[in-house]
Amino acid sequence: MCGIIGYIGPKSVVPILVEGLKKLEYRGYDSAGIAVVNGDQIQVRRVKGKISALEKSLDKAPLNGSYGVGHTRWATHGRPCEENAHPHQDCTGSLVVVHNGIIENYLPLKRKLKEEGHTFRTETDTEVIAHLVEKYFKGSLEKAVLHTVREIEGAYAIAVLSTQDKGKIVAVKSGPPAVVGLGEGEYFVSSDINPLLSHTQKIVFLEDEEMAVIEPQGVKFSDLEGNVLKKKVDQISWSPLMIEKRGFKHFMLKEIIEQPQVVRDTLQGRISLDSGKICLEETGISSKHLEKIAKVVIIACGTSYHAGLVGKCFIETLAQIPVDVEFASEYRYRDFILDEKALVIVISQSGETADSLAALRAVKEKNPLSLSICNVVNSSIARDTDGVLYTHAGPEIGVAATKTFSAQMAALALLALHLAQVKGRLDEKTRLSFIEDLLRIPHLMENILNQAESIEDLALKFISFSHFLYLGRWVNFPVALEGALKLKEISYIHAEGYPGGEMKHGPIALIDEKMPTMVIVPKDRVYDKMLSNISEIKTRAGYLLAVAFEDDKEIQDRVDKVIPIPPINPLFTPFLTTLPLQLFAYYIAAKRGADVDQPRNLAKSVTVE
Ligand code: F6R
Repeated sequence: MCGIIGYIGPKSVVPILVEGLKKLEYRGYDSAGIAVVNGDQIQVRRVKGKISALEKSLDKAPLNGSYGVGHTRWATHGRPCEENAHPHQDCTGSLVVVHNGIIENYLPLKRKLKEEGHTFRTETDTEVIAHLVEKYFKGSLEKAVLHTVREIEGAYAIAVLSTQDKGKIVAVKSGPPAVVGLGEGEYFVSSDINPLLSHTQKIVFLEDEEMAVIEPQGVKFSDLEGNVLKKKVDQISWSPLMIEKRGFKHFMLKEIIEQPQVVRDTLQGRISLDSGKICLEETGISSKHLEKIAKVVIIACGTSYHAGLVGKCFIETLAQIPVDVEFASEYRYRDFILDEKALVIVISQSGETADSLAALRAVKEKNPLSLSICNVVNSSIARDTDGVLYTHAGPEIGVAATKTFSAQMAALALLALHLAQVKGRLDEKTRLSFIEDLLRIPHLMENILNQAESIEDLALKFISFSHFLYLGRWVNFPVALEGALKLKEISYIHAEGYPGGEMKHGPIALIDEKMPTMVIVPKDRVYDKMLSNISEIKTRAGYLLAVAFEDDKEIQDRVDKVIPIPPINPLFTPFLTTLPLQLFAYYIAAKRGADVDQPRNLAKSVTVE
């Protein structure tokens, strides 16, 4: 939530900040602003709305400066409007701050600062930072910032600059992510690596309670006591091309189409075709440790939670280990019970989701083994777990998760087979046959994506409906949840995902000709049960769409429209059944003129509770 950026170097600062903010826009997009230093002046421009509105304003009245900071906002405290947009200034106007996170004790601080004579101009929590730095400033910006962060409570990644201590940007991380880019004579700070990739691939990841002082001659790192730190420089392999739309109308469509490759990349190098074994030593957790596992707890939010539900079926079926899947936002507040035989898996694309991170920290107090499944290398969750299994999905820019869902399922399938292997739960022949099925998936996904046009034609018939029901069972119940989530978050159509068996316990009351139902009904162990659901809906005049195997003749007469998928091992059907549902939601939303890549009220990386 919110993106921050800062640049110091010889190039023109405004275009670098604006281009950088565009790449951070997925983190929040209700208002934006930049501040640049020009001689002894700080020039600030803020607008309500997206970066395009900021660009327009800068085209009309350009700003010039030698270095600066920028921000794209997802409002937490204070309405989205120009006055609440960052950067925020102190009373003198000689200092600005951009902030991602929440200052929890801002109200008492604000009261005190007001009593001391400071004038507040916004409704934000962030403004207290500007006034505290002003209060403690005695010639050194970094010292004033160090003093300030000792008083604030909450989560923050901040970047501050001041004309009274010119030529530097001071950044601190405590919670939300912050990275520093080291270019040739130019330096950057940002919420993530995306804006930096076209300038440098040398990145330093700030840890919590660390500060960077960024100057034209280099960057100094320290802890919050002021002790100098020597930080590791990472060389990032993502390329700038990976965050381009490459001719697609939306990032979401591009990312849906990338899924076969993403699954290939996530499986690659982790299956030894010679021995027929899964190799996951790279996670940092040895087979010896996994042998002792008697229970798995998966913790996640949103789409990652749905991947966790699919993973539960994979692990239960293949490794025969009991699995609980938990919403991070609930689990963290529960009196949960864990012992040393538990493996806790945190699934998070961004690796920064506040609830998932907090749940992980609560879990760690009980000392179980922890493993994360993350897409962003070196993210907070990846760093805080005992081991990490990276999904190789590349950067996902569309706010609605698509390709990372498939990559998470691929990682979970590998993990389930690995656990089965370590615990001796599958004979070699069966394991090999599952591995073969897994390796066929990318090709089968391509077959489905080749039908995108016919899914588009179908979707266009449903653009004016207001409600949808998605039903699935067993391994496709999570797919029903995910299909409904995709539709509601990008098209704003109300949709519910339900396990088929629960329908008659309530939702069946909703069925009429205005409530179409999408049933996910591959030929699997619950196929007949799904056919019963279908009959019950038909009897009540409900319109039925079905995702089913292409060789299933029986289903054709029972529903109004079939979206065919190639047959595959039933356990792995979610890799295929998900794709038509993503495309269906995408085409409906695009036709309705919705902002597909940046749906209202959402942000990609939910770094606040
Ligand atoms: C929905 C979506 C969200 C995320 C959720 C968790 O399309 O993207 O529901 O899945 O916010 O995010 P991560 O995986 O980054 O922890």
